[in-house]
Amino acid sequence: MRTFSFRARLAATMSALILLICAAIWVYVPRKMEDEAIALISHKAETLGQLTAFTIHPSIHFQDRAALEEALSGTRQDKDVSYVIVDDAAGNRLASFHPERAAAGGHYRVTTPILDDGKEIARLQIGVSLERLNRQIMQTRVAIGVMTAIILAAGLLAVFLISDVMTRPLRELATAAQRIASGDLNQRVPARRGDEIGLLADAFNDMAAKVAERDASLRLLSRRLLSIQEEERIRIAREVHDELGQALTAMKIDLQHLGSQHAPLQEPLTTIGRTIDQIVDLVRRIATDLRPAILDDLGVTAALEQQLRRLRETTGMKTTLTVTEEPQLDMLTGATLYRIAQEGLANVVRHAQATDVEVTLAVRDGAAVLKITDNGRGMSQDQVANARSLGLIGMRERAELLGGTVVINSDPGEGTTLEVTLPLNKDGHFASAMR
Ligand SMILES: Nc1ncnc2c1ncn2[C@@H]1O[C@H](COP(=O)(O)OP(=O)(O)OP(=O)(O)O)[C@@H](O)[C@H]1O
Ligand SMILES: [Mg+2]
Repeated sequence: MRTFSFRARLAATMSALILLICAAIWVYVPRKMEDEAIALISHKAETLGQLTAFTIHPSIHFQDRAALEEALSGTRQDKDVSYVIVDDAAGNRLASFHPERAAAGGHYRVTTPILDDGKEIARLQIGVSLERLNRQIMQTRVAIGVMTAIILAAGLLAVFLISDVMTRPLRELATAAQRIASGDLNQRVPARRGDEIGLLADAFNDMAAKVAERDASLRLLSRRLLSIQEEERIRIAREVHDELGQALTAMKIDLQHLGSQHAPLQEPLTTIGRTIDQIVDLVRRIATDLRPAILDDLGVTAALEQQLRRLRETTGMKTTLTVTEEPQLDMLTGATLYRIAQEGLANVVRHAQATDVEVTLAVRDGAAVLKITDNGRGMSQDQVANARSLGLIGMRERAELLGGTVVINSDPGEGTTLEVTLPLNKDGHFASAMR
């Protein structure tokens, strides 16, 4: 269902109110005028009837038609009088003025009996035209209509301006809240007077400050935990590799020595030796997965090369690595880049059905930029935006912890490009404090 903005609803309500008031005026005022004018006209008509009856009474009494016409001339000249009819008691016409108009509407009619010693000798009918009245009412209606339109226009403008001014702080709050929701925790709204909206703005700013504070300490904590995790991995990897690896190698040498001294044991000992070789390989793999020594010894390029070599060997995919400038990375950020590359490449293998994968590493605008492009089946923007699985979310979070970004460009059938940007400080090291 479509919802209208608060401003639109406020404007609509106030406009409806203005319209209602104008409509009431439009209906009530002309009706009131009409009532008053009709009262006035009826009074005038009654008076005119009495006066005319008095004037023509002698001429009717003496049956003098010429005098009757003469006596009626004053009444005829009245411009509101539309017709005059004088009939005798038997209904014969004695005199008239536009009698045909009597049948038509639009008149106020008065009938006045003309009495002679209490006996009706004639009857006078006068019709007073309502045309002038109707015209006046029409003019009033038009004037009120025009006034209504002007009031409505002015009212709407005022409503628009008032509602704009009234809702501006709310809109600012909504915009700031949206920006905070999208990650810009430095958003604040301007301080206002101490009214309700001012209190809301203050509360909002307080809340935003607390959220930013909490977010900063969470980031610090996460960074610290990642650091500790990475250090721990280095330690375990080293111990597994050095201690376990060396112990196994020593064990193999002892077995070989034992075999050379006891010929019947030679064969089973060779089998055990092969198993030990497999365990040594496994130990190396575990150590490399935990933290590739190459990352610390030779840097991220060599580590990426090693990853891609492994990918070629296990999948047969065509891989290329282009490094335009090797960024100098500290322990945590080197690991971040490496882990994101690891997850990105794992996704290519698991989901892309690609034949080619291209990795580039560069330093651009003071940031290390790693791109992984595959020619696989790609994914929709919806899939990119609504990822619930930990892979994509984890990549983003790792990058954001160091002030960086992960952008995925992909369309179904068009392959996927994953671009990781991690800011470097002036010396080419990551700006983020590790601990
Ligand atoms: N390179 C790619 N090509 C095509 N689809 C991809 C690619 N990378 C990711 N996807 C799609 O995006 C989804 C989310 O990826 P993500 O790494 O978050 O989860 P996952 O790999 O399915 O699970 P996880 O990584 O948590 O084990 C995948 O399920 C896949 O459908
Ligand atoms: Mg994944």
